[in-house]
Amino acid sequence: MPYSNTPSQAADAVAAAAAALGRSLYRPAHIHYEIHHAELLKPYTGEVYFAGDPVIPVDFVGPKIAAPSLQADTVLHEDPETIAAHGFEGPFNTAVFDFVLKTRTSPDTAAVRPQGTV
Ligand SMILES: [Fe+2]
Repeated sequence: MPYSNTPSQAADAVAAAAAALGRSLYRPAHIHYEIHHAELLKPYTGEVYFAGDPVIPVDFVGPKIAAPSLQADTVLHEDPETIAAHGFEGPFNTAVFDFVLKTRTSPDTAAVRPQGTV
């Protein structure tokens, strides 16, 4: 669900600034994630957005944050049996997003890792 980071006392001024820039007061819907694994060089954090979200082009923080490579396609599920099977009371969406991460043993990791690092 889109949300705004704007404190209410600053809403009017921020709304005017956003309007002048052609941006929304809201961020597009997204999911934050943090991936930990022993083979990763460091924890990987980021956000996944949803393709077709109308807020992406007018994102408050800029339209480039939700790059196409960070957008998952969604599938709307409206079949009553599917909805009931998942314990929901109404239609829902699912999305699949694959992560391809560099690990300690990735061939190109060894090539770019500075001397003395692990
Ligand atoms: Fe967020």
